[in-house]
Amino acid sequence: MKKKASVHKELLHSLPKERGWRSIHQYHFQNFWCPSVDIEAVISFQKHFQARDSDIVVASLPKSGTTWLKALTFAVVNRHRFDIKAHPLLTSNPHHLVPFFEMDLYINNRVPDFSSKFAEPTLFGTHIPFPSLGTIKESNCKIIYVCRNPFDSFVSAWHFFNKVKLQSQAPLSLDEAFDRYCQGMDAFGPFWDHILGYWKESLKRPQNVLFLKYEDMNQDVVSHLKRLAKFLDYPFTEEEERNGVIEDISKMCSFETLKKLDINKTGTFVNNIENSKNLFRKAEVGDWVNYLTPKMVERMSKVIEEK
Ligand code: A3P
Repeated sequence: MKKKASVHKELLHSLPKERGWRSIHQYHFQNFWCPSVDIEAVISFQKHFQARDSDIVVASLPKSGTTWLKALTFAVVNRHRFDIKAHPLLTSNPHHLVPFFEMDLYINNRVPDFSSKFAEPTLFGTHIPFPSLGTIKESNCKIIYVCRNPFDSFVSAWHFFNKVKLQSQAPLSLDEAFDRYCQGMDAFGPFWDHILGYWKESLKRPQNVLFLKYEDMNQDVVSHLKRLAKFLDYPFTEEEERNGVIEDISKMCSFETLKKLDINKTGTFVNNIENSKNLFRKAEVGDWVNYLTPKMVERMSKVIEEK
């Protein structure tokens, strides 16, 4: 029998390959782009992960507000377990409390055992596109997806991936990165397929897939927290509303609070990526105006319209 590593190598050889964002190369696998390390993890996840109806999955494209949504979801689901003043979110990064399938749980051929140490409901995070979600697709578990304006996601991704490269290599220039993004060669993209995959599923199965937008959440986090809690079957009671529980959660999970925490200034999240300078940058809606030329805006708008 061939060793796993050589099977993986053979698979990689058969896949279309391009310059990567985080790694030297990225591969086109199951209709999305990602580095080889993620492919291995996705395969392992698809083979071993058995979704339970009680599981909750936070899904997104990179740099769309994943960290924020993980924090909000964790806080909502666990609000009766923890005092807000001594909350795990104040001492742990959201990515540690809600781990990624592909960049954490199944990385490097790990196969986690969910039978004992993971309480129900178990919260997971993923950037894997909907069609590749394995047993989750056939389960009744809840998926919350956050989508961000691709202009801002692109700018955020460009900053981020140039800081967290897996191998030493020259940074991607803004022009080069933009060209790749518009061609759909973004991490876990094409971004339009990723967004549309979850969007269509949210229309088909609204009880199972909640589609949120970063910009809407930014405008009114309280009403989105209510929607989120109701969707997850953890609705806020009138008493909780009167007591300001929703506002407390929104404040605890805010960019300003999370950015200032020691754990997020000094710790690392996945692949030893430092939290501080990478996860919490500006969190502004419309920051793209500071980076994109009118020509770039025209090109991306055309792509968005077409797709
Ligand atoms: P910017 O780079 O535009 O600042 P992700 O969590 O998917 O990696 O997305 C990162 C983006 O979300 C970054 O955007 C980051 O600053 C922003 N962000 C992180 N935490 C946030 C929070 N609590 N509230 C709002 N935005 C947040």
